[in-house]
Amino acid sequence: MERLYKKLERYGQSDFYPFHMPGHKRNLASSAGKFPFERDITEISGFDNLHHAEGILKEAQENAAQLYGTRRCFFSVNGSTAALLSAISACVSKGGSILVARNCHKAVYHALYLRELQPVYIYPHEDSRLGINGGISPSCVERYLEEHPEVEAVLITSPTYDGIVSNVEKIAEIAHRHEVPLIVDEAHGAHFRFSEYFPVSAADLGADIVIQSFHKTLPSMTQTAVLHVCSDRVDVEKVKQFMAIYQTSSPSYILMASIDACVDKMQKDGQQMFREFTFQLEKARQRLSQCQKIQLVQPGMLDSTDVFDYDRSKLLFSTVGTSMNGHELHARLRDEFHIEMEMEAENYVLGIAAVGDTEEGFERLCSAIEKIDAETETETDAGQERISYAKMKQVLSIAQAMDAQQRRFPLEESIGKISGEFAYLYPPGIPILVPGEQISGHLVRNVRRYMEQGLEVQGLSDSTCETICVAARKEE
Ligand SMILES: Cc1ncc(COP(=O)(O)O)c(C=O)c1O
Repeated sequence: MERLYKKLERYGQSDFYPFHMPGHKRNLASSAGKFPFERDITEISGFDNLHHAEGILKEAQENAAQLYGTRRCFFSVNGSTAALLSAISACVSKGGSILVARNCHKAVYHALYLRELQPVYIYPHEDSRLGINGGISPSCVERYLEEHPEVEAVLITSPTYDGIVSNVEKIAEIAHRHEVPLIVDEAHGAHFRFSEYFPVSAADLGADIVIQSFHKTLPSMTQTAVLHVCSDRVDVEKVKQFMAIYQTSSPSYILMASIDACVDKMQKDGQQMFREFTFQLEKARQRLSQCQKIQLVQPGMLDSTDVFDYDRSKLLFSTVGTSMNGHELHARLRDEFHIEMEMEAENYVLGIAAVGDTEEGFERLCSAIEKIDAETETETDAGQERISYAKMKQVLSIAQAMDAQQRRFPLEESIGKISGEFAYLYPPGIPILVPGEQISGHLVRNVRRYMEQGLEVQGLSDSTCETICVAARKEE
């Protein structure tokens, strides 16, 4: 069988002359920098069309579905973002209702806005010691579905950015009993399939649509992701239609070939690669767990009954009980050791380990953490107030609030008013405030504390976060 990435490589070396797009004409000398122009083509003969796949791209997507044991697989060159927009649009009618975990990525909220949906939010349990979101409670899903018969689909994020996995099997069973599909944002779990060291993928646990960012945890180019259809509860034609709406009409062959090459590599060498990777990862985890003050979070440490499983490729270092905060640990790793981590938060720093890691990489991280740990003081944090997520009251829908007339207020004066904007910490990009929600004192205090700690609060049109746009209600 012909592989897309191989055919593209061969084409790049052939004598075909392009009187077609792109404008660089596969001529490396036409650009200032170095880019893989020789393989950057458009929909020329023999290379199929992503939005009407009948040839090599159809086969490439079938291969990916086969690798994951799913019914259909759609490539996304616009990340899990386009896949989430499409999944939600395909499963919920315009203006309809959806049960969503409140700790979802902003892409989910953008779908709610675009399709004018009515969300029913389900808040995850919060681990108050570490300050991270836990899992989604199946019994809450059950209760909300009973209370809201209008809901047309359930959407949860599992694993979360921090590696928390919910009980997908149970949630799927509950959703199906209520005759609605379950969409799982598994953007951070594309690697689950390849080793028993990791949790079981939602695709094997009854979810109807599973979305995975290849680029996050597999050797694939940034922007690459897939949407798996896993059951006949999903209208495949609708998914296809929306994937074509939310993605460019000129998908990059370099990105699509990267997904194909990743699938090929995993099919051929995945088992061996993941055996070596998980061996190195576990060795590093064992070593890091010996640190006296900085704590590597282990599955058993999480204080929530709704944490069903934990993804050990997430290296989450807690600074609770030390003289440092997450921001300081993050800065030391970057400035002194040239180790760039994925994310910092108030009480922890998160690193992502993946199959592309090397033994040397793990060694550098372990030595750096050990050195910092030896130099760090213990500090009792008794009485120290942790940031707890503010539970928000939704007054208007996202679309009503975003499309209403906006008025700007100083942050402190906005308390009690309805937000016209999103605010989120980036990463992870989970909104702490959604348009249509009533701004509370708790939320404003949290924003101030995040800013004091040097964390990045994004989303507000005033990047200094001193003012916020509120949705003017008719009487205002
Ligand atoms: C949980 C989650 N879902 C979806 C996304 C969006 O993924 P992508 O960047 O592939 O569009 C992200 C990105 O960070 C994420 O963390």
